[in-house]
Amino acid sequence: MATNTATQDHPEITLTRRDGLKLAGLGLGSVAALGVGVGGVRAVTNGAFSAGSGDPYDLWHDWSSMTGIERVAAAGVLACNPHNTQPWRMIVDGDTIDVHSDPSRRMPLNDASGREHFAGLGCAVENMVIAAGSAGATSQVTLFPHGPASDHVARIALRKDRARQDRDLAAAIPHRHTNRGPYTSAPVDLSGFTEQSSRIEGANVLWIAEPTTREQLGRLYVEATKAITADTAQSTEAFSWFRSARSSIDKHRDGLTLDAQGLSDLALFAAKLLPAQSRTDGDAYWVKATREVHTATAAAYGVIVVDDVTDRSAQVNGGRLLARMHLTATALGLGLHHMNQITERIDRDTASGNPDVFSARWAALLGRPASGGLLSFRIGHPERTPGLSPRRSLDDVVAG
Ligand SMILES: Cc1cc2nc3c(=O)[nH]c(=O)nc-3n(C[C@H](O)[C@H](O)[C@H](O)COP(=O)(O)O)c2cc1C
Repeated sequence: MATNTATQDHPEITLTRRDGLKLAGLGLGSVAALGVGVGGVRAVTNGAFSAGSGDPYDLWHDWSSMTGIERVAAAGVLACNPHNTQPWRMIVDGDTIDVHSDPSRRMPLNDASGREHFAGLGCAVENMVIAAGSAGATSQVTLFPHGPASDHVARIALRKDRARQDRDLAAAIPHRHTNRGPYTSAPVDLSGFTEQSSRIEGANVLWIAEPTTREQLGRLYVEATKAITADTAQSTEAFSWFRSARSSIDKHRDGLTLDAQGLSDLALFAAKLLPAQSRTDGDAYWVKATREVHTATAAAYGVIVVDDVTDRSAQVNGGRLLARMHLTATALGLGLHHMNQITERIDRDTASGNPDVFSARWAALLGRPASGGLLSFRIGHPERTPGLSPRRSLDDVVAG
């Protein structure tokens, strides 16, 4: 069951700071003392008292009471997506939704091949298919109606003609969040995913739960995370999508936030009292969390596999399956945390002509060529309830 505190098994990760302040070492009294004066002002500025509420979070709260095509489009906006770039534009015309890529939201250094960008669009497509299905509508999905080089990623034609389906997954849409906190040591029953695992043509899930392979994969994640943080250009691009201040969240309504980092309530509150982290401090925290929390507490990893990770339709279809996996995990009460550092480094090395240091080990762990391993994630029984991430409004992304 999810709780809001760190346990003895998984001690709280400290936010690394140049002044050596360790948040985990702060007692409640210290935090209370910090909560007045400058710290108190900063706490308000950084949204310590308004997490998950206000305009950027409205869709999460309003979705269940929405109806019709608006509800379907909103389901797309609530989908998981890389770095919360929300890479979509949608055009609604009658019962048809056209989903377009927004190229200004690509991350060429962290996602050099575009696999995550197009997978994120696939996640939005599938969330919409699921929302429509739960209302009794069939979705006819046509990928890249103008060819794979086009920004027109999908056309979804809805026809209301059958019994409702996917109702459990649809009910999970407003409760699905990426959970970056610690997971318990309880094993995960993977049979709960079987029904969904082959629902999308051309994409499947490969599970890695055997302890030795899992540990090897965990070490590879840590190494890839270090490689990203050592690459100043890649790290800087990732940092540009981090929103620290509440004003920045209100302005952009996208990107990664402190609330979504899986911190304990106390560490999160303290982090909001302190000055915003620098890029390098944030990177140091990420490497430490990857080693001591993310990989140390993963019950299993899932890898979305396709025939060819460079194929645009395979990227979208892989994303569609990923969305189903995440909603299934939510419906089962499991935490899911997308972790793509290894493939981000493979694509970055390929694009920059550097020696490929990850593909061979990635392929060995998957038991198939690296060209088949599209996206990956960890799952487990979460210790904490994840925070909400912001979303742009329907008016911002939907036309028609
Ligand atoms: C294709 C894809 C790749 C992602 N890669 C990562 C990742 O490597 N690390 C991570 O922490 N989150 C990753 N995420 C999760 C997103 O950051 C997350 O979905 C986004 O911030 C929105 O938050 P939400 O899922 O809680 O709604 C990924 C999501 C998708 C769909």
